[in-house]
Amino acid sequence: MSSATVTAQATATTPLPFEDFRTRPTEELEQVIREVKARQADSLMILGHHYQQDEVIAFADLRGDSYKLAQMAAQNRSCRSIVFCGVHFMAETADILTSSEVDVVLPDMAAGCSMADMADLDSVEAAWADLGEVIDTEQILPVTYINSAANLKAFCGRHGGIVCTSSNARAVLDWSFQRRQRVLFFPDQHLGRNTARSMGIPLDQMPIWDPRLPMGGNTEDAVEKSRVILWRGHCSVHQMFRTEHVTQFRKKYPGIQVLVHPECTMQVVDAADLAGSTEFILKTVQQAPAGSKWAIGTELHLVNRLAKEHPDQEVHFLSPMVCMCATMYRIDVPHLAWSLANLDRGTPVNIVRVPDETKSWARVALDRMLEVS
Ligand code: 13P
Ligand code: SF4
Repeated sequence: MSSATVTAQATATTPLPFEDFRTRPTEELEQVIREVKARQADSLMILGHHYQQDEVIAFADLRGDSYKLAQMAAQNRSCRSIVFCGVHFMAETADILTSSEVDVVLPDMAAGCSMADMADLDSVEAAWADLGEVIDTEQILPVTYINSAANLKAFCGRHGGIVCTSSNARAVLDWSFQRRQRVLFFPDQHLGRNTARSMGIPLDQMPIWDPRLPMGGNTEDAVEKSRVILWRGHCSVHQMFRTEHVTQFRKKYPGIQVLVHPECTMQVVDAADLAGSTEFILKTVQQAPAGSKWAIGTELHLVNRLAKEHPDQEVHFLSPMVCMCATMYRIDVPHLAWSLANLDRGTPVNIVRVPDETKSWARVALDRMLEVS
C-alpha cells in the first residue's frame, strides 16, 4: 500500500483532520484524489466552476457556469455524493436540487461569495414591508440572482418569484413581467441593471435599494415609478474593470474584441463588444478563429486558462490589477483531497444541508428558473 493510499475503515468514526493534509506533497494528495475517484466511481460526482484553479478543475467530472452546474445536479440520478468545487451558494443549490440521499460536500466551508452576503433574509423582508407601505406587493415579483443564500431563494419561492443566473437573466425578467408589473432584483445591481436596460427599461425606472436606509434611500415617487428595484449589491471582483481599461486595450490592440461578464458595471458592459456568463465567455473563445484578439473582463483563473488553451489566439486580462475571486481560490488540492478521503472512509466533512422547509420553497423558485431556461 503506498503512503498516499487511503483505505476505507469500518471502525473509523472521527474525521481525518485537515492538518494531516495541509503540508503533504501535491503528488501524494493528487494520488489520494485519483484513488478515491476510482473507488467511488459512479457514486461520486465532482462538479467544478470555471473560476477554479487549474490544479482543482483538472479533477472535475463536469465543469460549467452556475446554471449548467445547477442543471447537472438536478439531472443526477446515480451519484450518492457531490463534491462541489465552487462556492457555498452553488453547493446549497446542488443540495436543494438533489434528493435527501445525496450528500453535497464543499471542500472548504469558508468558500463563500461576498456578493451573496450583501443581501440577507431580514433585510429583504424589511424591504418588502417598506415597499408595501407605498405600493401593493402583489405587483412585485422578487427575483434573486443564484448568488444568494438558500433562504432568499425560498423567499422568492413563497412570493411567486424566481431565481436567475447570468445566462438566463433576460428570459427570467421576461417571464417576470408577464406576471407582474415590477421586479425586486437582488443582490447584484449590475446584472439587474444590464439586463433590464437590454429590455429598454429606462434608468429612472430602476431605483437602487440601499438596505441600510429608510425606504432603501428612495422617495415614494421613485418607488411608485419603479419597474425594477435594484438591490445595492455588487461583485468586488467584477467592479474592478473600468471603461479606461477598455479604451486602453482598443488603442493598443486595434481589432481587439472586449468580452465581459454582466456583473461588470453598465458602463463597462456598454463599452464592451459582448457580455455573458462564464460558459458564454468560454464558448465564444472556443468558437473563434485563430488570430482572434480578446480582452476579457472576468475572474483571472478562467482568463489565464483560456489564454493557455488557445495559443493561436491572443487572450488578455482586461484589468491591469489582479482581480481574482479569493473565495473560489480557497478550494485547493489539500482541501479537495481531505474532503474526498473523509467521504471515502465514511467520515464525511463539510456537508452542506439546507433545512427542509427552506429547501422546498427554494426548490419552487429554482424549478421555475429551470423551466424558463
Ligand atoms: P456564472 O454563472 O456566469 O458562472 O457566474 C458565477 C459567478 O459567480 C460570476 O462571478
Ligand atoms: Fe461571488 Fe464575485 Fe466570486 Fe462570483 S466572482 S463567486 S460573484 S465574489
